[in-house]
Amino acid sequence: MSEPTAIAFDPTSAEQREDPFTVLAQARQEEPVFYAPDLRLWVVTRHDDVLTVLKDHKTFSSVGALTSATAERPPEVTEILAQGHPEMPYIIEVDPPLHDRIRGLVARAFTPRRIEALEPRIEEIAAGLIDGFAALGSVDVVEAFAWPLPLRVLGELFGFPEDDLERIHHWGTDWLLLQQDRPAEELVEHARGLVELQDYCVAAVEERSRRPTDDLLGALVAANDSAADPLSVVEIAGLPLDLMVAGHVTVTRAIGSTLARLFVEPELRGHLLDPSLAPKAIEEILRLESPAQGLFRVTTREVELGGATIPGGARVMAHFASANRDECVFAEPDDYCPERGDIGKHLAFGKGIHFCIGAPLGRLELRVALPMLLRRLSGLRPGEGVAVREPVFFARGFASLPVAWDP
Ligand code: HEM
Repeated sequence: MSEPTAIAFDPTSAEQREDPFTVLAQARQEEPVFYAPDLRLWVVTRHDDVLTVLKDHKTFSSVGALTSATAERPPEVTEILAQGHPEMPYIIEVDPPLHDRIRGLVARAFTPRRIEALEPRIEEIAAGLIDGFAALGSVDVVEAFAWPLPLRVLGELFGFPEDDLERIHHWGTDWLLLQQDRPAEELVEHARGLVELQDYCVAAVEERSRRPTDDLLGALVAANDSAADPLSVVEIAGLPLDLMVAGHVTVTRAIGSTLARLFVEPELRGHLLDPSLAPKAIEEILRLESPAQGLFRVTTREVELGGATIPGGARVMAHFASANRDECVFAEPDDYCPERGDIGKHLAFGKGIHFCIGAPLGRLELRVALPMLLRRLSGLRPGEGVAVREPVFFARGFASLPVAWDP
């Protein structure tokens, strides 16, 4: 067993959801890899150690990459999940060789051309959403914009009808909540939601097999048909499920966090409105805010890392947000500095074989959406009401962010 740590890591507390960075800076100095007993988690905080974890997928398996639960699943929850597709793989949670097969298929269908072609639609969707509330003068920007924008973009990408998106959003939330410690009756509900989402995705893949389509799901099915070692229907169906969820929760958080930052970082507004600076500003905000604060791995053997001995079978958190503020890599790591030369080293999209497959789309959405919000909503500022932080501890963003402007 490990020695008790002096690092008061309590990421679910209100204080550390607001400021997770101070305690992580202390950890990087004093105990860069420490064991958090309440979370049953080894937390890796330095940039070079996080890179080691991300690059060594043989020692650090991605099975359970999204799971922060410490308790066993109650049997009634497992029973419900057994009625769905418990064998369905999610790209973010599988290791090679299955990961290579799934990722290879995505790479053939989710091409740069397909992403570029979405730009005009992203503009139309964003403009349509803003049209809906521009005259009001105030709104919860997370609910009215930051959620629906990426969700609609992904719906369009996969060819899912707009009427289904609200359900998909809720089912996706069920999937994420199922990975956390919650009362059994809540987990039962979330398990039901996940099974419905699995069934929905399986039916969508089967439909594309019968009637080919031009959307991404149709392209995945077509690419799979010509693959040397094709995936099963259930294996393909894990892809829309994973991409729909991974692709909207992160962009939502990035939009909210950027706007909140803009209210305290006056230069950022001008930078986002300048097309030559906006990409750098966005990258720097991703480094500073890290919408995915960290994700999980399981050790396949005992391993030495950052002065600690992590046993085999242990759960590890690769802390992207801490790595992104590591003073050994980034000068003045807590400052907003869009011109920094080392920005390419940030790990907000991960690294290695699980590097974010949606990074180009996420960046494009932010490049379109943020300047448009600033242009259309003049004098954008914090609104009345309380901004509420995202409850999931390994995510950073807002569940609600009231804003106001001059209508
Ligand atoms: C600002 C936006 C985004 C951020 C910060 C972000 C962050 C990340 C991170 C940190 C990982 C690595 C996970 C790991 O190592 O365990 C990841 C993987 C992934 N992301 Fe993103 N992401 C974003 C946008 C998107 C979008 C738009 C999509 C889909 C269209 C997407 C789909 C995925 C998928 C499928 C994976 C797993 C890839 C694999 O396991 O091979 N992400 N993302």
